[in-house]
Amino acid sequence: MKTQVAVIGGGPSGLLLSQLLNKNGIETVVLERASRKHVLSRIRAGMLEWGTVELLREAGVGARMDAQGYPHDGCYLSDDDEIVHIDFHALTGKQVMVYGQTEVTTDLYAAQDAMGTTIIHGVEDVEIYDLHEAESYVDYTLDGVRHRVTCAYVAGCDGFHGVSRKTIPADVRQEFERVYPFGWLGILSETPPIADELIYANSKHGFALASMRNENLVRHYVQVPLTDKVEDWSDARFWTEFKKRLPTHVADKVVMAPSIEKSIAPLRSFVSEPLKWGNLFLVGDAAHIVPPTGAKGLNLAVSDVHYLKDALIKVFKENDLSGIDGYSEKALERIWKAMRFSWQMTTMMHQFDGEDSFAAQMRKATFSHLKTSETARRDLAQNYIGLPF
Ligand code: FAD
Ligand code: DHB
Repeated sequence: MKTQVAVIGGGPSGLLLSQLLNKNGIETVVLERASRKHVLSRIRAGMLEWGTVELLREAGVGARMDAQGYPHDGCYLSDDDEIVHIDFHALTGKQVMVYGQTEVTTDLYAAQDAMGTTIIHGVEDVEIYDLHEAESYVDYTLDGVRHRVTCAYVAGCDGFHGVSRKTIPADVRQEFERVYPFGWLGILSETPPIADELIYANSKHGFALASMRNENLVRHYVQVPLTDKVEDWSDARFWTEFKKRLPTHVADKVVMAPSIEKSIAPLRSFVSEPLKWGNLFLVGDAAHIVPPTGAKGLNLAVSDVHYLKDALIKVFKENDLSGIDGYSEKALERIWKAMRFSWQMTTMMHQFDGEDSFAAQMRKATFSHLKTSETARRDLAQNYIGLPF
């Protein structure tokens, strides 16, 4: 099979890139290891930056998001019983959108089907060759038979555990990593949201996040030790712990209900540089991971897609290589700023086991500064709603 861009990974990055390229007359083949059902059952991010919203509209997948998503004007941060409201709209003129990653992915699959693009599920043993030649190859096994895709470029959209990043020789790659000593336990539950906006709650019992998907579906998280397993957390234990971490007057409003999904994600910051090696480009989680505090993971994947689709359009339409040559540097500049914000939010909102007494005082001072300084709130808001592309 021959195509212009082979896309490895059919998660949000791969599907959105494929959608935007095909809309611009550039052919792709998407190779996805898992089944479509599996991809759509992974409950992950829920908060879209406005730049993400606009790119999804440009891709032709904005209709259901605009009808069913929830624009939010701000969020709350709390520290025990104290609350500060970050009014994104008043501070920046912008909003964010509550719309789950699974919904985004569902819309992208539907749009790709309508365009008749090629998405192959269940591929195994993907290998990438000849990345410094005019034509590159991606080989894979499907139902026991080896196949080959010949292409001009390869987009590595295959997440943190994919093959794309590892195809770049170790002596070319520079990796930066910070692993945090805790994870987030998340539940999905059919009960109404406890507030009109998200609450990021710090407390002496640890961190909690109250998020939502719709009027009767919430996504809530609590900080847990890395050694904890999902089985250690009954629904009753989750709700008790969640309520303890919220301001009292908010906790009183919590309506407990059974969980319909429960999972634990470890927290890490990770960047692999460069994002380009010959004809291969890394996109999204294949190149970088942020801790979820601040909702940057999916949004950062989308900004990579934005830069890469512009660069590839320039090559195929104008024979201009400047975009792809500059992709790594351009994307990394924004990636590092999102890394900084996610790390700062994580540090500000979580207790670290074994931390010294100074750390707690720094968190309190940061919170107090946010309460009293509009400049500090504006800076947080600008980062949260997303830096410009
Ligand atoms: P992925 O979504 O990982 O997609 C990669 C795709 O590639 C997958 O479909 C995978 O099956 C496929 N693949 C992998 N290897 C291969 C291979 N060898 N060959 C072919 N296909 C392959 N972000 C937030 O903002 N908030 C959250 O609450 C949040 N929670 C998260 C929870 C978890 C458990 C994880 C892992 C991530 C979470 N994220 C969250 C981050 C966010 O979901 C990601 O940033 C986003 O999914 C990145 O999209 P992606 O397409 O780059 O990668
Ligand atoms: C959600 C997850 C996040 O990490 C975040 O910062 C905001 C919202 C969510 O799943 O809804």
